[in-house]
Amino acid sequence: MEQFRFLVINGPNLNMLGIREPELYGSQTYTGLVEFIEKSADEYGVQVECFQSNHEGVIVDKIQAAYGVFDSIVINPAAYTHTSVAILDALKAVSIPTVEVHISDVSKREEFRKVSYVRLACIDSFIGFGFEGYRMAIKRLIDEISK
Ligand code: DQA
Repeated sequence: MEQFRFLVINGPNLNMLGIREPELYGSQTYTGLVEFIEKSADEYGVQVECFQSNHEGVIVDKIQAAYGVFDSIVINPAAYTHTSVAILDALKAVSIPTVEVHISDVSKREEFRKVSYVRLACIDSFIGFGFEGYRMAIKRLIDEISK
């Protein structure tokens, strides 16, 4: 059987994990996150590519390029979650099963973080589970696409 291909997209400032606001995002680095995701994917027997960008248009380009290449997307759009109609539209355009992840619990922070545009194109969201949310998202998507 062919392995499922997963694309994990992390948005702006997530490359600063370990340095930025450790009380919210923990002390592990972005490299640590990539290792965690690769290990999780390995355990579930799926292929994964991790991608990070600080630029909205680059994230849109990556989502468009995923069409016909990846079976599922896990996305933490970071600050673009709360502002980006362009990322929402890109996800709708490719129509690849997608799950949203946030390391911190955005539902318990500032009001503006309670709005998520991308959520409208996602089958589920894992919010406030730290790195574990990415593993949960992969599992949720495997269950969905194996149906
Ligand atoms: C975040 C939450 C966002 O509100 C914030 O802008 C981020 C990270 C999270 O993973 O908790 O950069 O997406």
